[in-house]
Amino acid sequence: MNAPFNAKIRFAVAGTAQRSSIERWTAHPLFAWAGLRPVQAQHTENEHRALENHGRGRRSVVELGVAEGASAVALRTVMDPGGTLYLVDPYHLSRVPALNFLRRAAHRAVAAGDGARVVWLEKFSHEAARDWRAPIDFLFIDGDHEEKAVARDWEQWSPFLAPHGIAAFHDARVFPGGWTWAEYGPVQFVDRTFRRGAGSQWAIVDEVDSLVFVRRRDSPRRAE
Ligand SMILES: C[S@@+](CC[C@H](N)C(=O)[O-])C[C@H]1O[C@@H](n2cnc3c(N)ncnc32)[C@H](O)[C@@H]1O
Repeated sequence: MNAPFNAKIRFAVAGTAQRSSIERWTAHPLFAWAGLRPVQAQHTENEHRALENHGRGRRSVVELGVAEGASAVALRTVMDPGGTLYLVDPYHLSRVPALNFLRRAAHRAVAAGDGARVVWLEKFSHEAARDWRAPIDFLFIDGDHEEKAVARDWEQWSPFLAPHGIAAFHDARVFPGGWTWAEYGPVQFVDRTFRRGAGSQWAIVDEVDSLVFVRRRDSPRRAE
């Protein structure tokens, strides 16, 4: 069940809606950590549902780029409770690293409720990849959005995707009223690799707002 978690998440909204004064004043993650506002997702509600749909029942889930933890909550809520959710984020942008309220807010949000075991890897994704060995059922790429960084994430992490595995790229598609554009790093990477990449062994299987999901063309059907 995911409703109790979702009630505590504020989703990104496509279009021109302005944030209210109270939303602007409480934008700092300190307020989320203190429980004074919902966790701020950097994705839309439709994207949240899509992450839940594709993450459901997965056992080994890796998220690159966690921020306040809204997408991690979505994945932990629906994945196999006997599985493991690996969360990779260096949390390097805090002005006061000892306090780091972004990291604190994320830990608090993800720890709320029951669910899969959580392993935090407080590293850049390319550092975490160096020691990675395990198969991955679901890979969510939402860290550094430079095109070359997305390409490196794909190059380093996709070899670990299990035969039935699926990968999701965020901010990888231009959508009506959305915040992405054709030259944006993830959009460029996905277009080049999966839309124009003739003969790619990967096929796009779903697209929701800025999210693009891919899996192997010869992927076996997953036992539900
Ligand atoms: C767009 S936010 C993630 C949003 C989150 N997935 C959500 O949907 O709410 C990007 C996050 O990626 C992290 N990040 C930036 N560069 C990274 C890297 N090289 N590896 C892993 N995480 C990175 C940032 O610290 C930030 O928290």
